[in-house]
Amino acid sequence: MSDKSRVFVWTMLLSSLCHPIQAFLLSGGDVCFGICNCVEEMQRIIFLDETEVKLVRCEERDLRSIPNFAIQNLPTGFYPGGKNFTVDLHSNYIQTVPDKAFGDLPKLSNVDLFGIILYNNSISSVSDSAFLGLENTRVVLNFGLNNLTTIPRALRILRQIELLSIEENPIMTLEASMIEHISPLLQFSLNLTLYNSWPVELNNLHVQYFWLYGYSGNSFQNFDVHGIGQRGIELEIAGTDIVDLSDVICNNQINVSKLWLWDNYKVDIRHFERCSQGAVMQNILELELTSFFFGRIPNFVHTLNKLEFFRCAFSNITEINANDFRGLTELKVLYLDNNRITTIHPHAFDTNTKLRNLYLYHNMLTHIPDSVVNLNLESLDMDTIVCTCSNWQNLKQINSTFADSMYCMDNTNSVKNARDACP
Ligand SMILES: *[C@@H]1O[C@H](CO)[C@@H](O)[C@H](O)[C@H]1NC(C)=O
Ligand SMILES: *[C@@H]1O[C@H](CO)[C@@H](O)[C@H](O)[C@H]1NC(C)=O
Ligand SMILES: *[C@@H]1O[C@H](CO)[C@@H](O)[C@H](O)[C@H]1NC(C)=O
Ligand SMILES: *[C@@H]1O[C@H](CO)[C@@H](O)[C@H](O)[C@H]1NC(C)=O
Ligand SMILES: *[C@@H]1O[C@H](CO)[C@@H](O)[C@H](O)[C@H]1NC(C)=O
Ligand SMILES: *[C@@H]1O[C@H](CO)[C@@H](O)[C@H](O)[C@H]1NC(C)=O
Ligand SMILES: *[C@@H]1O[C@H](CO)[C@@H](O)[C@H](O)[C@H]1NC(C)=O
Repeated sequence: MSDKSRVFVWTMLLSSLCHPIQAFLLSGGDVCFGICNCVEEMQRIIFLDETEVKLVRCEERDLRSIPNFAIQNLPTGFYPGGKNFTVDLHSNYIQTVPDKAFGDLPKLSNVDLFGIILYNNSISSVSDSAFLGLENTRVVLNFGLNNLTTIPRALRILRQIELLSIEENPIMTLEASMIEHISPLLQFSLNLTLYNSWPVELNNLHVQYFWLYGYSGNSFQNFDVHGIGQRGIELEIAGTDIVDLSDVICNNQINVSKLWLWDNYKVDIRHFERCSQGAVMQNILELELTSFFFGRIPNFVHTLNKLEFFRCAFSNITEINANDFRGLTELKVLYLDNNRITTIHPHAFDTNTKLRNLYLYHNMLTHIPDSVVNLNLESLDMDTIVCTCSNWQNLKQINSTFADSMYCMDNTNSVKNARDACP
C-alpha cells in the first residue's frame, strides 16, 4: 500500500523519525539511560521542514516499559538550548505510559518542541500524569499503531499539542471536550474503523492537516471539521468504505485547500462532477484521486482553476486527451504514474505553462511524448524509452539535466548518452 500513497508529509514524518537522514555531532551516539543512544540529527518533525533535533533513540530495544529518564544520566553536552528534543520509543512492547514517564526531561530549559514517539507498541493505558512537566511546552505525540480506544485523558494537561498521531488504534470513544482541548493543531491522524457514521464530536476539531485512515461509514453526513483561522483544511482520506463524499465536497460551509483520496474503492465520482463548480472544489489547490479505475481523467478536473498539484494514479487511465488538463494554468506538479497510458495528445499540456514536475512512470509509454517538449520542466520521470536516432528530433530540445536520469529500454545507456551518440 505504501507505494500507492503519495510521498506524503505523513509518511515522510514517520520514515524520517524511523530512519534519520543525517547524523552528526554525537553521531553513532553516546549510550544514555542504559539502553538508548543520545544523538543529534537533522529530522523532519512537522511537515517537511528539516531541523536539528536532540534525539534519545530507544526504538526497537525490546522494551516492555519506558526506561527511567533521570536527567543526570544525559550525556554532557546534551542539554538543549532552544533545540528540538525527541524521545523515540517506536517498535517496542510498551503497554502503559506511567506517571511522569519522561522523568526530568521535561525540565530541560528552552526546549522548542518536545517529541514523544510511541508508534508501534501495545499501549492501552496512559496515566493521567504521564506528561507532567510538559504543560507549557509545544509537543508532538505519535501514538500510531497501539491499542488505544480513546484519546488518552493525559493529554488534558498539555496546552500546546502541535501534532497528534493516533491512527491504527481501535478508537471507539471520542469526547467533544477532548477534541476541543487538542485544537488547534497542525496535524492529526486517526482511524474511524469502528464508526459507521461521522462522529460529530470531531467537528470541534481545528486542524491544518487531517488524515483519516479507515472509516466504516458510507457518507460524511454532519462533517464539519475546521481549518485553522481562515485556512482551508488539508484532508487526506485513505482506506475507507466511503461512497458519498458530497458532505465534504459539496458543503460550501467548509473550506478545503487540499484533498488527497486513495484506496477508497467505493467513492462515487458523480458527486465531484455535480459539485465541481461549488466553492469547495473551486478553491482546491491539491487533489489526489488514486485507485479509482477511471479509465480516463474525469471531466471536472480541468475546471478546477486553482489546481497546483494533481495526482491520478492506479486508475487504469489509458490515454491523455487534449482537454483533460486544459485551462489548468496554475498546475505545477502532475502525477499520472501507475496507469496504462499508451498515448498523450500532442497538445495535452499546452495551457499548463507552469508545469514543472511530471511523473509518468509505470505506464506503457515507450517514447518521450511530443507534448512535453515545449514545457519548461524541472523533472520528468518515466520508464525506460526506445532510443533510436530517428526518434531524437524532439529530444534535442529536452533539458539534458533529466535526459541524464532517464534510461533506454534496450540497454543501460542513459538517454543523454544515447542522444549524444547520434549524428
Ligand atoms: C523545531 O522544529 C520546528 C518544526 O520543524 C521548527 O520550526 C523549529 O525551527 C525548530 N527549532 C529549532 C530550535 O531548531
Ligand atoms: C513493530 O515492532 C515490532 C517489534 O520491534 C517489529 O517486529 C515490527 O516490524 C514493527 N512493525 C511496524 C509496522 O513497524
Ligand atoms: C488490546 O487491548 C485489549 C483489551 O483492551 C486486549 O484484549 C488485547 O489483547 C490488546 N491487544 C494488543 C495487541 O495488545
Ligand atoms: C486502520 O485503517 C486501516 C485502513 O482501513 C485498516 O487496515 C486498519 O485495520 C485500521 N486499524 C484499526 C486499528 O482499526
Ligand atoms: C479558504 O481557504 C483559503 C486558502 O487556505 C483562503 O485563502 C480563503 O480565505 C478561505 N476562505 C474562507 C471563506 O474562509
Ligand atoms: C484495470 O485494468 C486491468 C487490466 O486491464 C483490469 O484487469 C481491471 O479489471 C481494470 N480495473 C477496473 C476496475 O476497471
Ligand atoms: C533544466 O533543468 C534544470 C534542473 O531542474 C534547471 O535548473 C535548468 O534551468 C533547466 N534548463 C533549461 C534549459 O530549461
